[in-house]
Amino acid sequence: MYLQSYLLKRSLQTLNRHSVTVTSITLPRSSPVVHNQNMSSSALPKTMKSLLQASRKSPEVVLITSPLPTPSHPEDVLVRVHATAPCAGELQWAINFPDSVPPEKEMVPCQDLAGTVVTSPANSGLRPGDRVYCRVSAERAGAARDYALPRVSELAKIPRSLNWIEAAATPLSALTAWQALFEQGKLDAAGIKGDAGACGRNGAIRVLVTGAAGGVGSWVVQLAALAGAKAVVAVCGGDKEDAVRQLGATEVVDYRKTSIEEWVAADTEARECDLIIDMIGGKSLAGCWTAVRSGGALISINTPPDMVKPAGLDKEVAKSLFFIVKPLGSNLAEIGELIEAGKVRPTVDSVWEFGDFKKAFARLESGHAKGKIIIKVSNEA
Ligand SMILES: NC(=O)c1ccc[n+]([C@@H]2O[C@H](COP(=O)([O-])OP(=O)(O)OC[C@H]3O[C@@H](n4cnc5c(N)ncnc54)[C@H](OP(=O)(O)O)[C@@H]3O)[C@@H](O)[C@H]2O)c1
Repeated sequence: MYLQSYLLKRSLQTLNRHSVTVTSITLPRSSPVVHNQNMSSSALPKTMKSLLQASRKSPEVVLITSPLPTPSHPEDVLVRVHATAPCAGELQWAINFPDSVPPEKEMVPCQDLAGTVVTSPANSGLRPGDRVYCRVSAERAGAARDYALPRVSELAKIPRSLNWIEAAATPLSALTAWQALFEQGKLDAAGIKGDAGACGRNGAIRVLVTGAAGGVGSWVVQLAALAGAKAVVAVCGGDKEDAVRQLGATEVVDYRKTSIEEWVAADTEARECDLIIDMIGGKSLAGCWTAVRSGGALISINTPPDMVKPAGLDKEVAKSLFFIVKPLGSNLAEIGELIEAGKVRPTVDSVWEFGDFKKAFARLESGHAKGKIIIKVSNEA
């Protein structure tokens, strides 16, 4: 791996010195590591197509030919990828969150995958041919390539009702929403299954979500509604009102017409919320401070809330935090049960051919997606 990264870096440095635009390069094949697998990998191709972030300091993504990844960890599963999804801001993670992107990471983008198991560790419960999906930890190479190496603990089987595109649209967004509401937030997931105590507690909680029609937001709206929250306030562009109401929003704030501060101020007692989940940061998150009830919880997946707390605002909350999602297959399995029961669905904004990856990233970085942006990797997707 180190040798491979070194050689890649050297090729790119050489190319940069000669001012060549990189569109396709070939990486050397790394040595196989002995690993307990339940099928022979002799029928696999020697090389594959892959996207690569050319530098940790630049958002440029290039198309390369590289060797297949080789399992080297006891939990590694070799998966043939059919579809993947980029995450907003991911090409800046190495700069903005350097601790989450270790220097040895092979910079393959797109951590979400839907694919087929090729080889798996014995006793992993996974067999060749299984349809699986997951979020690969941001610490390791992503899934914008023909074959990827998720770990057993990250994977879950894809619900039968989802195709490859819908499956790739699910892991990161659904996991983040689940953990924001039920682990970091104070909604009780038992409410989804009708537990009377949980339903009673959830029924007293008003939830507000910014970026409500986006990848993560569309899951927050569905899961909060399903858990029986007292209200689900969706903050989004007005053109998305119908979509978020169909997902379960009970109140909608068009942020282009009304700021969150103005909306709350019009009826503070009735409109303040107990749990706020923010995707947007900046002014939007600052506005959330005015909307959270004293003693409530303010959770952002974008920015630590205390960084934008309005000066002079005299309000104590029980919790204000930023967190990073954990790539847990166990959470994904619970979400999969809800999908299978027809209670929640992923939302797909658009689907792009692999060769159109630049257009897919551009659509994502526009900041106005309605659900997930998907890149097809195999012809099966
Ligand atoms: N911490 C973590 O573990 C974690 C995990 C996943 C994602 N994230 C981060 O969370 C953020 C959201 O991710 P995502 O995948 O949901 O993004 P996304 O799908 O790209 O979100 C786009 C949505 O944001 C809406 N939006 C833009 N500005 C808004 C505003 N001021 N108020 C309300 N809505 C607004 C857009 O609506 P309009 O078109 O109407 O403007 C659009 O529907 C990203 O920054 C991502 O990096 C963090």
